[in-house]
Amino acid sequence: MAEEANITRVNLADRSYDIQIGSGNLGSLSPFLQSRCSSNHAVLITDTHVDPLYADKLGDQLAEHQWEVHVLVVDAGELSKCAEVASDLWETMLEEGTDRQSIVVAVGGGVVGDLAGYVAATFTRGLGFFQVPTTLLAQVDSSVGGKVGINLPGAKNMVGAFWQPLGVLIDVDVLATLPEREYRAGLGEVVKYGVILDADFFAYLEQNTGAINAHDGPTLTHIVERCCRLKADVVEQDERETTGLRAVLNYGHTFAHAFEAAGNYGELLHGEAVSIGMMCAARLAERMGRVDRSFVDRQLALLESLSLPVATPNYDGEELLALMHRDKKVDDGQIRFVLPDRLGHVELVKEVRVEDVLASLEA
Ligand code: NAD
Ligand code: GLY
Repeated sequence: MAEEANITRVNLADRSYDIQIGSGNLGSLSPFLQSRCSSNHAVLITDTHVDPLYADKLGDQLAEHQWEVHVLVVDAGELSKCAEVASDLWETMLEEGTDRQSIVVAVGGGVVGDLAGYVAATFTRGLGFFQVPTTLLAQVDSSVGGKVGINLPGAKNMVGAFWQPLGVLIDVDVLATLPEREYRAGLGEVVKYGVILDADFFAYLEQNTGAINAHDGPTLTHIVERCCRLKADVVEQDERETTGLRAVLNYGHTFAHAFEAAGNYGELLHGEAVSIGMMCAARLAERMGRVDRSFVDRQLALLESLSLPVATPNYDGEELLALMHRDKKVDDGQIRFVLPDRLGHVELVKEVRVEDVLASLEA
């Protein structure tokens, strides 16, 4: 059972929910679900890495608490976030008697959360769903806010929905089994929050790189809590990304999604692509006179001290530009970029010259 758990509330009228953040609280999944829905049939969706570590045991826990449980396992990795895998899940759920009273529980990283959430949003026009994020990236970002979806070849997250979970259960202990490269990738999104919303948090990260690199538990709990609160604040104000506010969460992502697509989703991890993309966005902001060199250097120093990649991969600039034109933030044929004007503050900017975008790819 959890020794202590913090609750972060996401206030969205009748779609409000709790994010419970703690250490050892996976043991209380059943009561967490039972107090937030009236179902007794849970479809746990997970991947091949997380199933033997956590999801299988969570399935047993639910069964012991009189749930009917089906555990559906997809291949680990970004390539599972696609229409074919979603279709397989729909068909299996139908065969196994899933109906409108059933719930979906996503146990895994952002891939599982996005995919399972999309399947939940669409099966019988919408099932209740819960997130149990098991990567740092999913705990600080993707499990919160209700963006769910799948990729099309060459177009990341192009098909999806806004479908809020009924609750998010975060146990920071599961990060102990996360491969080091995946842990680092999650830190890319963590740094993002400091740059876009919270200069004090950015300074906290700078002052605690030793503890972060040592995976210190209390430091990680603080980081997860702060990121969830920052994301919840944004989502509460612009749930469906209609005012431009929520778009700030995509700092570095226009570049990042192009890098991921150019590498067929198999070369860079999402958080790594975000790290490199944030450096491109910072240089673009510097070229446009929005920030000075010290901003770029400070962001670079933090990313490097967390061992995140910062160098642009060797893809063709014109190809990247074409991929960026498929970004969902494209408006009237123009790519819009989230750019900083100071630490802790960014804006969505439309008037950006192509030559500046190409130049910002290079350090
Ligand atoms: P991921 O889901 O692929 O997980 C990374 C790897 O870690 C996988 O191999 C997984 O099996 C393994 N893993 C997960 N938890 C583990 C654990 N505790 N111990 C050992 N191994 C574990 O990748 P991710 O970085 O979590 O998520 C990336 C995805 O999230 C991308 O598709 C991205 O687009 C999406 N995303 C979505 C949002 C959103 O708001 N919906 C936000 C950010 C990112
Ligand atoms: N990760 C971007 C968002 O949730 O809006």
